[in-house]
Amino acid sequence: MDRSRAEKELERLAKLIAYHDYCYYTIASPELSDAQYDALRRQNQDLEAQFPDLRRMDSPSHRIGSPISSQFDKVKHRKQMLSLDNVFNEKEFLDFQKKLRRFLKMPEDFSIPMIAEPKIDGLSASLHYQDGQFALGATRGDGQEGENITANLRTIKDLTLCLLGDTFPKSLEIRGEVYMTINDFEALNESRKQQNEPCFANPRNAAAGSLRQLDSTVTASRPIHFFAYYAQNLEGNLTQTHSELLEKLQTWGFAINPYYKLCNDFSQMLTYYQDMQETRKNLNYEIDGLVFKVNDLMLQERLGVVGRSPRHSIAFKFAAEQAETIIEDIILQVGRTGVITPVAVLRPVIVGGVTVSRATLHNEEEIRRKDIRINDAVVVQRAGDVIPQIVRVLENKRPDTSQIYNFTDNCPCCNSNLHKTPGQIAKRCLNGFSCEDQAIQRIIHFVSRDALNIDGLGERHIARFYGLGLIASPVDIFTLEERNKSFNEKIENWEGWGNQSTQNLWNAINRVRTMPLDRLIYALGIPQIGQNTAKLLAKHYTKFENFLKSIVAVNQNGTNVDKELTKIEGIGHGMARDIIDFFQQKHNLQMVEGLLQHITVLACKISDNLPFSGKTIVFTGSLEHISRGEAKFQAEKLGAKVASVVSAQTTFVVAGKDAGQKLKAAINLKVEVINEITWQKMVENANL
Ligand code: IVH
Repeated sequence: MDRSRAEKELERLAKLIAYHDYCYYTIASPELSDAQYDALRRQNQDLEAQFPDLRRMDSPSHRIGSPISSQFDKVKHRKQMLSLDNVFNEKEFLDFQKKLRRFLKMPEDFSIPMIAEPKIDGLSASLHYQDGQFALGATRGDGQEGENITANLRTIKDLTLCLLGDTFPKSLEIRGEVYMTINDFEALNESRKQQNEPCFANPRNAAAGSLRQLDSTVTASRPIHFFAYYAQNLEGNLTQTHSELLEKLQTWGFAINPYYKLCNDFSQMLTYYQDMQETRKNLNYEIDGLVFKVNDLMLQERLGVVGRSPRHSIAFKFAAEQAETIIEDIILQVGRTGVITPVAVLRPVIVGGVTVSRATLHNEEEIRRKDIRINDAVVVQRAGDVIPQIVRVLENKRPDTSQIYNFTDNCPCCNSNLHKTPGQIAKRCLNGFSCEDQAIQRIIHFVSRDALNIDGLGERHIARFYGLGLIASPVDIFTLEERNKSFNEKIENWEGWGNQSTQNLWNAINRVRTMPLDRLIYALGIPQIGQNTAKLLAKHYTKFENFLKSIVAVNQNGTNVDKELTKIEGIGHGMARDIIDFFQQKHNLQMVEGLLQHITVLACKISDNLPFSGKTIVFTGSLEHISRGEAKFQAEKLGAKVASVVSAQTTFVVAGKDAGQKLKAAINLKVEVINEITWQKMVENANL
């Protein structure tokens, strides 16, 4: 056969085999006998052996995996992979519905139709199809950047390697969940037990462990599956509703979860939630709740994103699973920010398939309120990823040996005096990097995925480096490679390391020597300063010097600290206090100064090519067609800054009905004032 015929034939075979894979694995209605199917696979294999360079991205021969890979490459997601907010009961779910209506300025009695889908307890993956061929697949990672696991994903039998039909866009991204069935999980663990290999704790860990194999032939030997729940095309919406999108996914050859349902009103949603709680017991895969998604994609767009979650969807978790056990001891843990948390050491008990031996007791007050004592019989519960909790003490089972727990005044790690901030419940150790537990937690946080994301520096490594005095603060991470050169026992020669892992670590560290401002602020581990607040600070100060100068200067001359920070929308007094306190501690300032010797902090780019970039807008009065929240979201999406106070810096004021003081201020300051209709026109024009 000549080359060009072979090329056509390989394309035909890829499509044909993909179709028969779909029939067999996805919809369980095979059209070919095993022998006929094998013959097609053999034809494909033979042709590829003759023309190795013609092997296609969607070739069925990728299904068997390949043994060679040294590490996973990083992949930047084209659009952030978000996560979902959770609600745990009817009231919280109702509040979510109310918030949607308020944001969209819809009447109280209006119901927004939603699709309910099971929340599969697996791990999410993103798949790219180029001209219908599966070209690239990645893990979620930190949402911005994941790992390239294309070779592993190709081995999943119900994940189509080429899209069926011909009505798909040129470039398409699919997202969904990789999971393992409960039967397969049990069988896998059984065979691992027989081979003296450690068992997986639950199907989700088994799926994750199977997928993240450098040798994808191992993945190919594991029974993992894929449910698709989302598709996007950079050129705009593929359909008008989410339910149409799910149908499209099916026609392209994906397995979608059969239990999705359109619910038109709140009572239908609740009924379906209750039904699924029963159905769940008979499913052969784990689900931990339902995801409710606004069906209308236009409304989804309007609702947008807050933090890392879309406003249009919510995970409504199923009731937590509970079990009875005994509290054998109460110990204290020192957290990253020095907060002391009491932890119950439990007689190990299986809760929802996972062995639980610790539960958080939160704080001293919680122990008193629930009257929790050592040796008490208690009910523990876990819900999804949440740390196990003590629900209540079984007082009728309280033994004579039960002991009331007395909270100490000294740090359980470094013995320094604990400190209690007025108005806060928790006690804190203020010893910073001189307290081993705290230092280790802070370094772990510094390198964690959402902070600097330094791969290869796990918790155990950090504890070991700290113990040996090699990494005592984040600064030392950046000098380790240089210092290692003069170590007697070089790290590459340590047990469990070797040249490759050590080199990977240096690469990972060097990769973050230049880091975005918001990541650095978050990585510092200032109490209460999460990723969103770090972004707000980065946007406001744009450069690290500005941030530092402002906070340190404010500290030094004792000017009104709050004013400087609380000017920033989203930063309250509590957070401002924590930021100031953080930089008042010498060890923190020293760490920051030390870091600056080794790193370059990128200035925060305020997107200056958006239609409203550089403009500051104030909304006042009541808007008739959209809510204040949505107006703010529109403005920020188009690059504007939304302020709450009118000043000479305000570009214009959008005045709704009954505008008062702010309108007056605008007139006094000769700031332009527009009405809601003009605002909507401006938004429409900007979006064109
Ligand atoms: S939609 C905005 N639908 O739950 C995120 N997620 O925290 C879009 N998940 O990372 C996710 N089943 O791994 C969606 N039917 C479903 C899901 C689902 C499981 C996972 C997914 C995501 C996490 C949300």
